[in-house]
Amino acid sequence: MTAHGLANNLTEYGDREFALYLRRSFARAMGFSSEALRKPIVGILNTYSELNNCHRHFPQLVDAVKRGVWQAGGLPLEFPTISLGEVFLSPTSMLYRNLMAMDVESMLRAQPLDAVVLTGGCDKTLPALLMGAASAGLPAIVVAAGPMLTSQYQGERLGACTDCRRFWARFRRNEIDQVAIDTVEGQLAPTPGTCSVMGTASTMACVVEALGMMLPGGASIPAVYADRMRNAEESGKQAMTLLRLGLTPDKIMTPAAFENALYVLQAIGGSTNAIIHLTAIAGRLGVKLDLQRLNEIADTTPVLVDLKPTGSGYMEDFHRAGGMRVVLNEIKHLLHLDVLTVTGQTLGELLDEPYTFPTWQQVIYPASAPLQPKGGLIVLKGNLAPDGALLKRGAATPALLNKVGRAVVFTSLADIAARIDSPELDVTPDDFLVLQNAGPLGGPGMPEAGYLPIPKKLAAAGVTDMVRISDARMSGTAFGTVVLHVAPEAAVGGPLALVRTGDLIELNSDRRELTLRVSDAELARRRAEFSPPAASALRGYEALYLRHCQQANLGADLDFLRHPTLQ
Ligand code: FES
Repeated sequence: MTAHGLANNLTEYGDREFALYLRRSFARAMGFSSEALRKPIVGILNTYSELNNCHRHFPQLVDAVKRGVWQAGGLPLEFPTISLGEVFLSPTSMLYRNLMAMDVESMLRAQPLDAVVLTGGCDKTLPALLMGAASAGLPAIVVAAGPMLTSQYQGERLGACTDCRRFWARFRRNEIDQVAIDTVEGQLAPTPGTCSVMGTASTMACVVEALGMMLPGGASIPAVYADRMRNAEESGKQAMTLLRLGLTPDKIMTPAAFENALYVLQAIGGSTNAIIHLTAIAGRLGVKLDLQRLNEIADTTPVLVDLKPTGSGYMEDFHRAGGMRVVLNEIKHLLHLDVLTVTGQTLGELLDEPYTFPTWQQVIYPASAPLQPKGGLIVLKGNLAPDGALLKRGAATPALLNKVGRAVVFTSLADIAARIDSPELDVTPDDFLVLQNAGPLGGPGMPEAGYLPIPKKLAAAGVTDMVRISDARMSGTAFGTVVLHVAPEAAVGGPLALVRTGDLIELNSDRRELTLRVSDAELARRRAEFSPPAASALRGYEALYLRHCQQANLGADLDFLRHPTLQ
């Protein structure tokens, strides 16, 4: 690929030479010499925001990227995109993932850039960056925020945000008091960086490394380590190599690379959210992720990583244990090794270096004696989810994985908020809690509401898990027997909308089935009565989203942003 620097994407005045002369003069106004302005331009997409705690260290991180670009002979130019701080957005950050992806794509297309370094980390940011970069087609490399370090409370280790939920559940059960929960609140997120467990952010960082879009080791270096800055500097240098090689995202994120990402997702016991994000990223490149294939991959991939939310360790332990290098080596026999990475080498070449399993650590297991013999993420189908639903089997209570239960239905998030803790709620631990209208359109934005709270009276009696079913998502830091992403969603008239309190539902994870035990005739009668929930009075981007967002099994992307071959 030839570098064009400032001459890329010239403003149209009908006179190219004038446009270039004008651009150069304005660029010189920023204090650059003519020599600097003749260099290839590497954009650095900065997702820093004072409303995103996970990216607090990005000013320093971006400076490190700049050093690398200068060293390799490029001109680094930093620019912002919207930032999605997971807990600072209402109704949910997922509503804005596609907006961020549009911003990224449009700015990569519009500005005079030869390559780009994508910095991000908090849950939706890496997916949005890759969706936009995949569509824009510039050589791109990802620098992740890196995870937070952990802290402690009365000798007990604490990390965002599985422990947030654990302590909140203890508070709801009256096991700890207000003073204790206030103290925990101040210790859960002690440093910059992404949540310190194998939640969505860490899962996506590992999956992006598996896709080949990040330098080896980049997924797990803690945010505050000096190595994180060195990784950023190296990535800045590598952006210039990508430019020289003409290595664009479509040459790296191939169908085989997406399969590798799915193998890694199972091996790390990663977040359910990664499926929807990978589907969306692949959709930008014309790659269709087959959810049935996920079940085959689950059956052949051992779970190797023992981190919270389902295990015991934290991301800093994973990093010290060797991180993705160990995981990739242990499942090397399953992976496509001929795929290219941002290093310019194939994955096989990267894994050719001498390797010995680190026996001194406890968070990564060898494939020969795995934590679990099969992957934890499975896809369910059946008359309740004709287009699929997800279950994180590895985070579920085994006794609940194959069970018939009575549905206790909540028709909206407002309904669940109003009734879940009522002493009058007719519910037993054997019931299935069902939430409707929390999907991509019904939410809107598919909030992380699928981890329905255990009704207070059951929680107080010691119940810690129940089968929960919804068209929502679940935080990657959550756990339980939670069926998610039911498609089609209730708001568009999917079968989930037809469930009534008292119906029987069968969850059969062995057969990968989710069945509503109601006769076809009765379902037809209910379907005839169905009317969609009142459309929200939304404007601007939210209105566009409601008109164009697709279902969860297609990645919940906007239809016009998917690759033309998939539209
Ligand atoms: Fe940013 Fe968890 S809040 S990764």
